[in-house]
Amino acid sequence: PAPGWAIDADVVVVGSGVAGLTAALRCTAAGLRTVVVTKARLDDGSTRWAQGGIAAALGEGDTPEQHLDDTLVAGAGLCDEEAVRLLVTEGPDAVRRLIATGADFDKTDAGEIALTREGGHHRRRIAHAGGDATGAEISRALVEAIRDRAVATIEHALVLDLLTDAEGRTAGVTLHVMGEGQHDGVGAVHAPAVVLATGGMGQVFSATTNPAVSTGDGVALALRAGAEVSDLEFVQFHPTVLFLGADSEGQQPLVSEAVRGEGAHLVDADGVRFMLGQHELAELAPRDIVAKGIMRRMRERGTEHVYLDARHFGAEMWEHRFPTILAACRAHGIDPVTEPIPVAPAAHYASGGVRTDLRGRTTVPGLYACGEVACTGVHGANRLASNSLLEGLVFAERIADDIAAHASRAAHAPHGAPGAGGPATRVSQPVPVPHPAPVVVPLLDPAARTRIQRVMTTGAGVLRSETSLREASAALDALHIGAVPDGTADQKSAEPGTEAWETTNLLAVARFLVAAAYRREETRGCHWREDRPERDDTAWRRHLVVRLTPERT
Ligand code: SIN
Repeated sequence: PAPGWAIDADVVVVGSGVAGLTAALRCTAAGLRTVVVTKARLDDGSTRWAQGGIAAALGEGDTPEQHLDDTLVAGAGLCDEEAVRLLVTEGPDAVRRLIATGADFDKTDAGEIALTREGGHHRRRIAHAGGDATGAEISRALVEAIRDRAVATIEHALVLDLLTDAEGRTAGVTLHVMGEGQHDGVGAVHAPAVVLATGGMGQVFSATTNPAVSTGDGVALALRAGAEVSDLEFVQFHPTVLFLGADSEGQQPLVSEAVRGEGAHLVDADGVRFMLGQHELAELAPRDIVAKGIMRRMRERGTEHVYLDARHFGAEMWEHRFPTILAACRAHGIDPVTEPIPVAPAAHYASGGVRTDLRGRTTVPGLYACGEVACTGVHGANRLASNSLLEGLVFAERIADDIAAHASRAAHAPHGAPGAGGPATRVSQPVPVPHPAPVVVPLLDPAARTRIQRVMTTGAGVLRSETSLREASAALDALHIGAVPDGTADQKSAEPGTEAWETTNLLAVARFLVAAAYRREETRGCHWREDRPERDDTAWRRHLVVRLTPERT
């Protein structure tokens, strides 16, 4: 649709989690006219749901080198070591700057930042706030800083597409704003720099820890804009999500890894600790290993969940250390003080996304990406616990600095330009994903959303195979051309609106995710192919990359 209104800025930041707001604050501090646009309210993204914390080598005896080692092991051979090195060396100071901005982290009796452990970390290096409400505190502090500094914001604004000039350089974004006031309906923010910080795509599955707004809008936009997107097959399933029934759909309550970090045990229906002997770190193995261990035990026992047992914490520790989780469990009739918590894996984090270099530049000049929407190279095939908030902070700062450095010049440099540190993914030559069909379709009826989620959960969930992926692909293709078997949705009838755009975006990312998962004929990190159970470093120590040429979009 043609924009009905337009405003000008130096930079538009799309998304308001830790990555978006950090980028916006730093751009503002550099004197850039910055506009933040966000789909719901400023604090409605995934950041505020983060529990465990933010990882950084802040403790005595810990070093960035040890943090690097743990990150590389979790990433299963596909991390970009240079990107990880930046993350872990710049991370501690970035956390200190976050504290200076106003985030209040938990302290020890000696006044030091309190640190816990999570899966894959060999040391205590996870800083937390409010016990298990780290993201909520970070979000509160950043939103307050945005308001204090009077950064321009447009809430309830769904980003539609990237605007480019005749040379293919970024010129802004179009938006659909739902609400009242001067910016209503479809409009545009014109700016030579756009920062995508739109978060993840967990809503592509039926059960996820992600909020309802995580519908892959940034990846879908980037695909339509012809930017490279990488590693979509690496969807991380969090091992311990409160099990509310096999039919429970939408956002599910997380039970943080930090609960295991403080000594909780995973047990089966007979009370047996099944992670012992599977990995030297047992329950604190990297997340993919724990999720697989749980799935195997569920299959062996024919159960729909296992249990997380932390009764030995006692009431006082539960109340002080994990108040959010305690309240969520009790709200669903489970008391972790007196009974084990039923848990099962659920979709949690997109390790892949829009491919960037070390300054957050995508392959489209002037378009940047950071946070979950980005693939900076730090996560590889499986993100290390609590590296996501850190990645959002560190790469948002790098992006703001790059935009500020280029603000006085005519054009923003593209991905991999001299001095940018080269492309993010250098493990070997990337392999193109054969993409199924054009991504721009008539707007999909929102009723198709549930069908997409069920198809993805069945065919491309925690366990995948060639057959399941082929079936998922066929079912998504059928939606794509409007032939919906159960007759509940008909894309031709969809009216423009947030839900129709979100559903269209979900279908686009789902199809490319399935195409990548089908193509990767091995098991690695959080990509688990039952028919290809081994990791194959000879053929597959490489990334799958998709980039649509304009004629294919
Ligand atoms: C958690 O608290 O378990 C989530 C941490 C993360 O996803 O990094």
